[in-house]
Amino acid sequence: MPFSARYIHYIKSHCASQRRILSILVKTFFGTFLLCGIWASRPASAQVTAPSQSAGIADKSLDARVDSILRRMTLAEKIGQLVQYSAGQPTGPGTGRSDYDDMIARGQIGSLFNVNDPHEINKYQKIAMEKSRLHIPILFGLDVIHGFKTEFPIPLGLASTWDPTIVEKASRVAAMEAAADGIRWTFSPMVDIARDARWGRMAEGAGEDPFLGSAMAAAYVRGYQGSRLDAPDSIAACAKHYVGYGAAEAGRDYNSTEISEHKLRQFYMPPFHAAVEAGTASLMSAFNSLNGIPSSANPFTLKQVLRREWGYRGLVVSDWNAVGELIPHGIANDGATAARKAFLAGVDMDMVSSLYHDHLEQIVKSGQATQAEVDEAVRHVLRVKLALGLFEHPYVDEGAAAKALYHPESIALAQTAAERSFVLLKNTNGTGGKPLLPLAGGSQNIVVIGPLGDDSSYPGGAPPGSGPRVSLVAALAQRVGESHVSRFKGVGILDGTDQEIADAVAGAQKADVVILTLGEAPEMSGEAASRAHLGLPGRQKELLEAVVRTGKPVVLILFSGRPLTVPWAFEHVPAVIAAWLPGIAGGPALARTLFGDVNPSGKLVVSWPRAVGQEPLYYNHLNTGRPAGDMDLTRPPSDVASRYLSRYIDEQNTPQFPFGYGDSYTTYSYGGTIISTPRLSAATLNKRLGSGEDVAPPMTAEAEVTNTGSRPGEEVVQLYIQLTGTSVAEPVRMLKGFQSISIAPGETTKVKFELKPDAFAIWNNRNQFTVEAAKLNVWISPDSAQGSPAKAEILP
Ligand code: NOJ
Repeated sequence: MPFSARYIHYIKSHCASQRRILSILVKTFFGTFLLCGIWASRPASAQVTAPSQSAGIADKSLDARVDSILRRMTLAEKIGQLVQYSAGQPTGPGTGRSDYDDMIARGQIGSLFNVNDPHEINKYQKIAMEKSRLHIPILFGLDVIHGFKTEFPIPLGLASTWDPTIVEKASRVAAMEAAADGIRWTFSPMVDIARDARWGRMAEGAGEDPFLGSAMAAAYVRGYQGSRLDAPDSIAACAKHYVGYGAAEAGRDYNSTEISEHKLRQFYMPPFHAAVEAGTASLMSAFNSLNGIPSSANPFTLKQVLRREWGYRGLVVSDWNAVGELIPHGIANDGATAARKAFLAGVDMDMVSSLYHDHLEQIVKSGQATQAEVDEAVRHVLRVKLALGLFEHPYVDEGAAAKALYHPESIALAQTAAERSFVLLKNTNGTGGKPLLPLAGGSQNIVVIGPLGDDSSYPGGAPPGSGPRVSLVAALAQRVGESHVSRFKGVGILDGTDQEIADAVAGAQKADVVILTLGEAPEMSGEAASRAHLGLPGRQKELLEAVVRTGKPVVLILFSGRPLTVPWAFEHVPAVIAAWLPGIAGGPALARTLFGDVNPSGKLVVSWPRAVGQEPLYYNHLNTGRPAGDMDLTRPPSDVASRYLSRYIDEQNTPQFPFGYGDSYTTYSYGGTIISTPRLSAATLNKRLGSGEDVAPPMTAEAEVTNTGSRPGEEVVQLYIQLTGTSVAEPVRMLKGFQSISIAPGETTKVKFELKPDAFAIWNNRNQFTVEAAKLNVWISPDSAQGSPAKAEILP
């Protein structure tokens, strides 16, 4: 199902008063085209681009070159192309080998990663180009996850913008900086669906929804790969971790997953498919076992779906030692078997384990794998190297690397991205009955309390203090004057003393307003950072309660790579912002947000739990046979009617904040959802499904959105559907479209979505993608929990 053909959205506007014309900023996931005029004046580094199919791995003209190189290769040289090692700061246990110079000269290495010094990159490349027999360049990779040196918000934050164009532009900056350093391959985007906040890697992805995740996946690929993959400032993307890694049982990293084929196709695969459609040069096979078969040895996902169904021509690299880990997984008792199983399943390149290097030749010679199979894997590697133009330009200009970093427009983009990533979770109880935020300007005294107010706390690849960082404290001081800002750490992330808390409380007492900066240290999310408790770590809750008890107005800024269960804060603190881990420009972005220079517009891409016991928690769940419906779940069951339901006896079912939620300094009201037709025909829709025809959409849905407040705002309007009566139970709601609109106070905008045939298609009980007869609900709403649906029917 081509991503681009899925849904088309456009918006029309009209004014409450006919004489004004709204200026509307539309950011749909194909806003690329709509907005190119707006960005025409931006520097090349920030421009968004069309998919790189023409010059990427889809370019058939590369095949003859690939084959002519292949014809000259020995079996050992071919296997060398399938071998990758980490030659720098390790990002996993062990690094395989260390005699890389010799191995490169003998043609035994196809790729190195974790080397990010251009001089060292050139040193290794020189060996490949001058000493190896066939002069095949090395492909250098790195985890460039949310920026290279100019550090953007973590991907969970970037996704909270609901703005694929900003993600594309951020990835373009990352590509430009990394490529200038000699890195031509990033292990990004992580497109794993994440439904469980215990799983630390939720931070690295776009959250729980496949539709939004697909839009983001494609945007990252477009950004990294640019309009030409062989341009010197483009890098190959790597969609990871294929597949199902985010469903780790109990949210524990690397844990097993059990996902039915139906669920896999409906939820976990679409973002990978979107990345493939956008031309991603590579995919990474995951660590997890999937229904008993590790994802790095799974022919169904790697060959049947990826190669046969999706026609993928790029490179599949294993995750770090995932080939070696087939042994502890229990499907191989020795390295040779592990190598054979991974290779035959479709893993082209072995990251770090060295088992392809050690065993693949013998596996082929003994007839357990064929030369043709090796050739095909090598084709995938060479195709990427050729598409990147590495044969023509193997070296990096060592003098140019530094000049690509920290361009002012890149920092500005990082700041905009941060501003748009913040989700205003709560805003009540200011003076005079008005919400606390935004803060009034003027000479009030602000105290910043908490372990996360300084720049060193913002996460990312760059070491603390590197690049032009401005901390929140410094940004506030710039704004209101140093004498009006005081700073108390209060406690550390995990430690703290009674005296430190007492000092902070005393500081709060002297201030007019308290900014509390609490949450997780950067290393508490991401890989190998699962948490069983999702509250504030260490003594931070004590600090929070002590500061709130002063009675001073408190704004809580939560820094984290996941939602945190802090129900006490949501009950007692007037204003709460989820800032995620906001990157290099997080300080100024927060200061501008606190003072209302920007109106928060981020919305949650993950359901925010009330309690860890609710996890996994996601909005697009099934209904169950005993849904709780409107039952009051705030109290324990008291009778038969309230007991025998799908519920907890000690917690509500609903999240603290639902997927799609985000408050604003203004308010919006939504009119009813109006659909263009109450009836559709499954037979007609199926005929048009996947035909690629650009014909009139079978259904449009529209609603009026009014800015009922007193500030201009940007609202992410969401479209959901539900299908009932189908052969397979479908979720209570599924996101099928979203748009951002800029809307002035008092104005009304009509937001219109087009629903294409594939919006109504499901993976049926035979795992075919098809439209079935069904009852249909359609919502246009501000989040996944509000609104009342328009009703329609799909007839057979
Ligand atoms: C393991 C991680 O799972 C993966 O995301 C990363 O790309 C590799 N290590 C390489 O650092």
